[in-house]
Amino acid sequence: MEGARAMRILVTAGPTREHLDPVRFLSNRSSGKMGYSIAEAARSRGHEVVLVSGPVSLSAPEGILVEKVISAEEMLGVVRRHFRTCDALVMAAAVADWRPAETSAGKIKKLGADPRLRLAPTPDILRELKAEKGGRIVVGFAAETDNLLSEARRKCEAKGMDMIVANDVSRSDAGFDADTNQVALVWPDGSARELPLMSKRAVAARIVEWVEERAAGVPAGPGAAAARPVLPAAEAGGERLARILEFVREIDKLKHVFRRTLLMDGSRYENDAEHSWHLAVMALLLGEYAAGKRIDVARVIELVLVHDLVEIDAGDTYCYDDAGNAGKAERERAAADRLFGLLPGDLAARVRGLWEEFEARRTAEARFAAALDRVQPLMHNYFTGGVVWRNHGISQEKVRDRNRHVEEGSAALWAYAERLIRQAVEDGLLAP
Ligand code: PMT
Repeated sequence: MEGARAMRILVTAGPTREHLDPVRFLSNRSSGKMGYSIAEAARSRGHEVVLVSGPVSLSAPEGILVEKVISAEEMLGVVRRHFRTCDALVMAAAVADWRPAETSAGKIKKLGADPRLRLAPTPDILRELKAEKGGRIVVGFAAETDNLLSEARRKCEAKGMDMIVANDVSRSDAGFDADTNQVALVWPDGSARELPLMSKRAVAARIVEWVEERAAGVPAGPGAAAARPVLPAAEAGGERLARILEFVREIDKLKHVFRRTLLMDGSRYENDAEHSWHLAVMALLLGEYAAGKRIDVARVIELVLVHDLVEIDAGDTYCYDDAGNAGKAERERAAADRLFGLLPGDLAARVRGLWEEFEARRTAEARFAAALDRVQPLMHNYFTGGVVWRNHGISQEKVRDRNRHVEEGSAALWAYAERLIRQAVEDGLLAP
């Protein structure tokens, strides 16, 4: 996180519950995944994080102060207390707008006429904090079912936010409880940047990265990017060169796609660009251990350098996340269409061909590249004490099944992988 200063970031997540009586309450379907992903992304980028969470079934993320609340009123009190000392607030919580006007101390009995439910407004937390905002960065969310951008702009303005993240909560693959989200980042000046469907972790990384940029004084919104339009083709040395350079600019976004793999020193999560670079150096050094005839190491390096580019749009899906992997192939094909389509035709075909070769593990080079793609995170997990494995309850069986194809690419690396797995089980890093 060099360059960006460590901040104290306050994040809210999950629903609130507005009780009618000790048994019944008004609430919504928020699972907390979006807010918890933001808190984890902020922590992995070295920030101090306070997470104010409504009732969810997610476990408290390591290294983060979690404050549990139930009602909107309680959330206001806790957020206000921490707001004074934070640099930024990200309000991902689905705070109820109304509560029952009366709350019964005892369970309401089913006697006689049906009870009439009168509602009263809950405190609007962002509105309440507007006057205390000062120089703090405030990011909110807009949960909409229609008029997404216009509603988001209205709320952004009305609640005094620096940015609002708009999501269509009528979709099954976005908004409430989904592992993915499709959002538009909207700024008070009305500018907006629509992001493709991606994992909530990838969305979270984009949000935290924007907060860092804002804290560093980078202009809000796509202004920073759109204000620097690409040079017209004629001035860039022609159509072909201009398109290649536009692709070069676009793939810079791979540095924002964070993996669920901690760096070897455990300091933060690794991003996809670092992962690809690491595999390229491993290919250079370990080519002699590839299975079969002498492989073309240069080809392996090409394969690993492009293998994760589609995750700019598709997001990085945690390898053991069965739900997230369900739609992965489709998301990645759509991403490949858009991204590789930025290139001139012959280059688009060549780069897409490399990506497809890697995915299909069609050649000895692709099998070796895929072996490296497994051994590197296995090393990360082993050398960081299996923290991420344990956080997700990953068993040795799952790890062995996931990595078994390493043997097709390199018998030596598979033997090494098996030794790491055995030692991890012995050391209690990995469930037997
Ligand atoms: O938790 P997940 O299952 O992952 O689902 C994620 C999410 C759909 C909950 C999340 O992406 C989201 O949209 N959160 C905001 C939901 C919401 O309350 O949106 P809203 O448009 O009703 O509110 C606008 C903003 O005002 C929000 O930042 C909200 O936190 C805030 N608010 C709302 C009500 C209230 N009384 N006080 C507030 O501060």
